[in-house]
Amino acid sequence: MNILKGRPVADLIDRRIIDVVERSGLTPRVKSVLIGLDKGAKAYAGVKGRKAAKLGIEYEILEMPEKTSQGEFEALISELSGNDKVDGVIIERPVPDHLDIERALAHLNPQKDIDCATPHNLGRILLGDARFYPATADSVLRILDHYGVHLPGSHVVIAGRSLSVGKPLANMLLERSRSATVTVCHSHTKDMAMITRSADVLVAAIGRAKFFGTEYISKDTIVIDVGTNYTDDGLFGDVDIDAVEDIVYAITPVPGGVGPVTTSIIMENSAKAALKRRGLDIDHGRNGGNHENGCRAQDQEVRRKI
Ligand SMILES: NC(=O)c1ccc[n+]([C@@H]2O[C@H](COP(=O)([O-])OP(=O)(O)OC[C@H]3O[C@@H](n4cnc5c(N)ncnc54)[C@H](OP(=O)(O)O)[C@@H]3O)[C@@H](O)[C@H]2O)c1
Repeated sequence: MNILKGRPVADLIDRRIIDVVERSGLTPRVKSVLIGLDKGAKAYAGVKGRKAAKLGIEYEILEMPEKTSQGEFEALISELSGNDKVDGVIIERPVPDHLDIERALAHLNPQKDIDCATPHNLGRILLGDARFYPATADSVLRILDHYGVHLPGSHVVIAGRSLSVGKPLANMLLERSRSATVTVCHSHTKDMAMITRSADVLVAAIGRAKFFGTEYISKDTIVIDVGTNYTDDGLFGDVDIDAVEDIVYAITPVPGGVGPVTTSIIMENSAKAALKRRGLDIDHGRNGGNHENGCRAQDQEVRRKI
C-alpha cells in the first residue's frame, strides 16, 4: 500500500505562493467571516490564519456574535465585497442555523470568492472556464496529479455529492484534459459497494468514520479519503484504512492527506485573487501540466497507468 501524503503537495503549493507574493510585492488581504460559537469553524479559521501568516498573506478573522441577523450578515458581505482593501472573503462554515449562507453569498463579489462558493464561480466550472476551484475538490486532483495518476479513461467513483466536494469534482474530472468516467454516489444509491468496487479511483467524501471497508474496495484501487470525522476515539477518514491496507494500491491518510492541501489551495486562491484584481496572473511562468494550477508529479514511485 502506498501512502499518498498531502504534505509534499501542500509544500510545493506553499513555496510557489511565497515566491509569487514576494515577486509581486503585494500582501493579499483576506477577511474570514466567523459567525457564532462553532468550535470546528473557529479552529479551522485559526489553522488558515496561521498558514496565511507563514505565506505573507494577511488573514483577518472577523468574529460575529451568534445572534447576528441575516441583514447584518448580508450587509457585512456587501461591505467586504465593495471594500478596495479586501482581496478575498471566506465565510467559515457552519454558520448558525437561523442564517441562510446562500443568500449571503449572493452579495459576494465573485472575484473575491476564494472558497469558490458563489453560484457564478460554481457555474464557471460547468463551462470549463473556472476562476477558482473549491479547495477540497481541487486538492483531490492536485494529489492525483502530484502522484502521477493517469486519469483519462479511468473510472472515478465519488461517494458524496456536496457542493464543495462531489458535484464540482465530478465536473472537473469530466474536463477534456482529465476525461475520467465519473460515477457519483449518495445516500440514495443502491448497492454502493458494487459501484465502488468497480472504481479505479475512489473518492470517499460522505462524512462517516471508517465507513468504507473491504466490501467496498477492489484490489489495486487508488483511494482519496476526504472524510474528516472527529469521534470520541479520535480523527478518522471515511475509509477503514486498517481493514483495506492489503487491498488498496494507494490511499491518502487522515489526517495528513487532503486536509493540508486544501488549506494551501485556499491560500493560493487568495494570492490569485489579489493578483487578478491588479491585472496580474499567478499562473504566469508556471511549468505547464494538465492542471490549470500546475502542480505536477513529483513522487514518481506510485505513478502508474490505469
Ligand atoms: N479535508 C478537507 O479539507 C475537507 C473539506 C470538506 C469536507 N471534508 C470532510 O468530507 C466529508 C464530507 O463533507 P461534505 O461537506 O461534502 O458533507 P455533506 O455536505 O454532509 O455531504 C455528504 C454527502 O455524503 C452522502 N452520504 C452520506 N451518507 C451516505 C451513505 N451512507 N452512503 C452514501 N452516501 C452518503 C450524502 O448524500 P445525500 O446528498 O443523499 O444526503 C451527501 O451527498 C466530511 O467528513 C467532511 O468533514 C473534508
